[in-house]
Amino acid sequence: MDSPTLLLTNIGQLLTLRSAADGARRGASLSDLGIIQDAAVLCLGGKIVSVGETKDALRDLWLKKNRKKISEIDCGGRVVFPGFVDSHTHPVFTHPRLVDFEKRISGANYEEIAEAGGGIRSSIDGVRKASKTALTQKVRAVLTDMARHGTTTVEAKSGYGLSLESELKSLEAIRAAAREWPGTVVPTLLGAHVVPPEYRGRSQEYVDLVCNEMVPAVAQRKLAQFVDVFSERGAFSADETARIFQAAEKHGLAVRAHLGQLSETRLDPLLRYHPASLDHMDHVNDADLPTLAQSDTVATFVPGANYFLGLARYPNARQFIDSGVAVALATDYNPGSSPTFSMPMAMSLACTHMKMSPAEAIAAATINGAWALRLAGCKGSVEAGKDADLAVFNVSDYREIPYWFGANRCAMTVMNGVPSGHLWS
Ligand code: NIG
Ligand code: FE
Repeated sequence: MDSPTLLLTNIGQLLTLRSAADGARRGASLSDLGIIQDAAVLCLGGKIVSVGETKDALRDLWLKKNRKKISEIDCGGRVVFPGFVDSHTHPVFTHPRLVDFEKRISGANYEEIAEAGGGIRSSIDGVRKASKTALTQKVRAVLTDMARHGTTTVEAKSGYGLSLESELKSLEAIRAAAREWPGTVVPTLLGAHVVPPEYRGRSQEYVDLVCNEMVPAVAQRKLAQFVDVFSERGAFSADETARIFQAAEKHGLAVRAHLGQLSETRLDPLLRYHPASLDHMDHVNDADLPTLAQSDTVATFVPGANYFLGLARYPNARQFIDSGVAVALATDYNPGSSPTFSMPMAMSLACTHMKMSPAEAIAAATINGAWALRLAGCKGSVEAGKDADLAVFNVSDYREIPYWFGANRCAMTVMNGVPSGHLWS
């Protein structure tokens, strides 16, 4: 896609998220946004080439000489930051789950709905029957919505096909949609989301299918970078998760898991596989936090799911942060537990219900999301040499990003150097 030479000037607050230290942000460093006031960013060939104050940028000799070839965007004092990295989404589904929504309002919980034929299993039929083109259009549409809300990198899971053919079709749809979108998509195989109905009572055989057929086929076709498992009662046990992780390792795929959403699972046996991220983390044994803090595994919170499921309890973010665990925030966009593509909404919930500060929420939604996808070398901060991914928000103070909840303040994004939004026309 076309990426013009871009100069963003007159940025009121540029949140660079740069850091001298290596590794994901932990503890106090999560609050350091590396702010430059009255800043400018120059992007060339899809990369950031320089970052500094507007007055210095305008004095630059190369810039002066080439001014006519450069598209300049006056940000009018707005806040600019690296686009959000949404490191946990399930975009390949066909229908919203409105019956589940109503049942929950009438008092049923997540597991009761699943047992009554709703839940994840009720999204399978739609995906199995849909054409790859129809699924591609669904994914493409939500990627556009995400970018309109400031997200420039998205992890996208399969997981509603749950047969070899439909999981491959789902990942192919993600790949096709990603090719039409200027942002960056990281595909994940979630063949182990739940045991599909035809394998009822034969979960070991389904795990065999995931390990012996899905993982090798996906690796061979290079359709995913990660393998994810919903490790939970009613889904897959810790032993089954470990087996699937072994299969992923054998085929050169990295791993991540849904963990501790409904019940507690000990982390040690899974940390052996170096998961890039463990997500949800509502129920975690306190004794596991020091080990988690020593590891490179990120704990990714998805408070949109707690909100939408109407839960009183949210993950104890303060305890994780104070223990030195690297934490990230993501939407968990999916039809059952978190139908939102808004990272600012997830951040707002993290602030109001998990007591994360606005600065911590921003770092968790950008640079630590990039660490959770093992993309921190090129995403998550505004630094020379990194990909030109930026979000321009119609606010003058970064704290307003999670403050205006349920509203979209994104004025523009730049994705791999490609600009879009109403400051660009
Ligand atoms: O992250 N927990 C498992 N997967 C999703 C829910 C998917 C669904 O309900 O469709 C989640 O919350
Ligand atoms: Fe999820």
